[in-house]
Amino acid sequence: MTTQKLDHDHEVDHRLIVQENKYYAQASRINYYDLVIESAHDSTLIDADGNEYIDLLASASAINVGHTNEKVVQAIQEQAEKLIHYTPAYFHHRPGQELAERLAKSVPGAEKQVAFSNSGSEANDAIIKFSRAYTGRPYIVSFMDSYHGSTYGSMTLSGVSLNMARKMGPLLPGVVHVPYPDVYRRYPNETEHDVALRYFTEFKKPFESFLPADEVACVLIEPIQGDGGIRKAPEEFMQLVYDFCHQNGILFAVDEINQGMGRTGKMWSYQNFTDIEPDLMSVGKSLASGMPLSATIGKKEIMESLDSPAHAFTTAGNPICCAASMATLDVLEDEDLLERSTVEGAYVEQRFQEMQKHYQEIGDVRMYGLDGGIELVKDRETKEPNPDFANKVIYYAFQHGVVIITLKGNILRFQPPLVITRAELDQALDVLDDAFAAVENNQVIIPSNEKIGW
Ligand SMILES: Cc1ncc(COP(=O)(O)O)c(C=O)c1O
Repeated sequence: MTTQKLDHDHEVDHRLIVQENKYYAQASRINYYDLVIESAHDSTLIDADGNEYIDLLASASAINVGHTNEKVVQAIQEQAEKLIHYTPAYFHHRPGQELAERLAKSVPGAEKQVAFSNSGSEANDAIIKFSRAYTGRPYIVSFMDSYHGSTYGSMTLSGVSLNMARKMGPLLPGVVHVPYPDVYRRYPNETEHDVALRYFTEFKKPFESFLPADEVACVLIEPIQGDGGIRKAPEEFMQLVYDFCHQNGILFAVDEINQGMGRTGKMWSYQNFTDIEPDLMSVGKSLASGMPLSATIGKKEIMESLDSPAHAFTTAGNPICCAASMATLDVLEDEDLLERSTVEGAYVEQRFQEMQKHYQEIGDVRMYGLDGGIELVKDRETKEPNPDFANKVIYYAFQHGVVIITLKGNILRFQPPLVITRAELDQALDVLDDAFAAVENNQVIIPSNEKIGW
């Protein structure tokens, strides 16, 4: 194990950030450490001081096919020379036509239609709009600990941060939150089956006390919660909720913005469950390799329930973004990245499980393809979160050339580009291994007193 002190200099990074902070609103960023990204390729980042990093975050799962992927860059350049933008609110362009068809066909089952928007948040707003319009019902059910975005609609759906509600209320009326299953913090002797039933009982409580089921338009769920800690709902819970929706005429909607586009080893994360077909789903982030494009994909008759122009944006479905998206989808297929996510994810899981034997702070290792939440705790019995330990681990990693952040303060977020090589994974995992040892031995001191993370 190496426990050397810092080997990265951040002079330029730091200077730029001090200058930026004079003009950049703090509400638009979550603070981690001083990193100014100057350029990037595949899984490598270069900062303003010329330091190199292995990227374990992929721009918050927005760069699944790798940074500056050659095919994506080429598609962007070629399209930029032909047409930078013409609003699809009035007229048509070829990349928009082609992508809408491809996305609609990418979701198995009944015929689908697509509505484009600019951000994941807007795609979730569309779920509220279309489900209310189709059902004629006012209420939406979403889950605690979920993150669905930052517009008024999508932040109302979210349930992961007090600062996303504080000082801005009242939020959107008609949204009810229910708890998302926490399999890790189950009661003693509880099986996964017991957990599924316990949380389904919780799910039903509002419907039995204040929420008439026949007034609920939709249930929106992340099949695997992202910002909630990369955790998968038990299969049985999902099936119970899905059946409940069908029995009560409630639409079943999934948010695939973080977990879709091959991240979990499946094209869409709901495909990790048996026989589920969402009525509506939202996609963004990696859809166009981080270019501002999102989509709401839904069953045709649901998407036909709103009249023009109920969901139109001047810059939605931008042709360069659509071209980037087509190229991204090509790369996912051509380079077999779903399979790669599965295989490499299993390898990473086994490496973290090995580390778990040595470091008491590693409470839980959750990997679904190259999609991981590594939960750090003060004590394996109490499972009390250990954000201090987690912050020091990510700080050590940063100083040793690995970019990784936390979720909920104490969970390592492991979401590298799916093109990451085995050698890069090994290098990054070795650094994390060293980081656990260094933090356990009290060898890591974080210089700043600023709050880190969510
Ligand atoms: C699951 C999920 N939904 C929605 C969003 C919001 O997407 P955007 O930031 O593009 O508005 C995010 C972003 O982190 C997300 O993780």
